[in-house]
Amino acid sequence: MSDFKEISVSEINNNPFDLIGKDWALVTVKNQDGCNTMTASWGGVGIMWNKPVAFTFIRPQRFTYGLIENEQYFSLSFYKEKYRDVLRFCGSRSGRDYDKAKECNITPVYDEKAPYFEEADLVLICRKLYAQDLNEQSIVAKEEVLKNYNGDDYHRMYISEIVKVLKK
Ligand SMILES: Cc1cc2nc3c(=O)[nH]c(=O)nc-3n(C[C@H](O)[C@H](O)[C@H](O)COP(=O)(O)O)c2cc1C
Repeated sequence: MSDFKEISVSEINNNPFDLIGKDWALVTVKNQDGCNTMTASWGGVGIMWNKPVAFTFIRPQRFTYGLIENEQYFSLSFYKEKYRDVLRFCGSRSGRDYDKAKECNITPVYDEKAPYFEEADLVLICRKLYAQDLNEQSIVAKEEVLKNYNGDDYHRMYISEIVKVLKK
């Protein structure tokens, strides 16, 4: 039985810089056999069009990219330190080659909108509002082009409404 409680975005008391940049997140999307998940440490949360939103950046070569393009919803979920190896695995193996939930022995929960994992501490259910590829011309700090890109693999930025927050 799940011990998540639904809370409002205002009740999230984690520091977003630590939560995303240091603790990392799993981006989880439905696929035909169930779900796929990948680790993300770039992104943010804030307000857009008067809604609470999450910003997510996905490179086109990720298996997740094709899945997220086909779905209206996905989840961002956050974990206690003891799951660090799971996040390492999900950030270095592709769903093209592995059923990552099975390999990591984590339990998918199929929310009506987007899957997440029972082992999470905090879950954001996200509805895509806006998607746009980053591009070289728009990068003002030109040194970031060479530091982060070696060709045409610019991230796609998704701005998504946070429609539900679950906390253990
Ligand atoms: C700590 C960490 C953070 C990552 N952050 C991102 C990210 O924000 N965006 C991204 O596209 N890939 C990111 N990755 C890489 C993907 O997680 C990785 O390529 C993964 O294997 C993709 O899985 P998939 O092919 O099943 O989608 C990160 C990897 C790690 C280890």
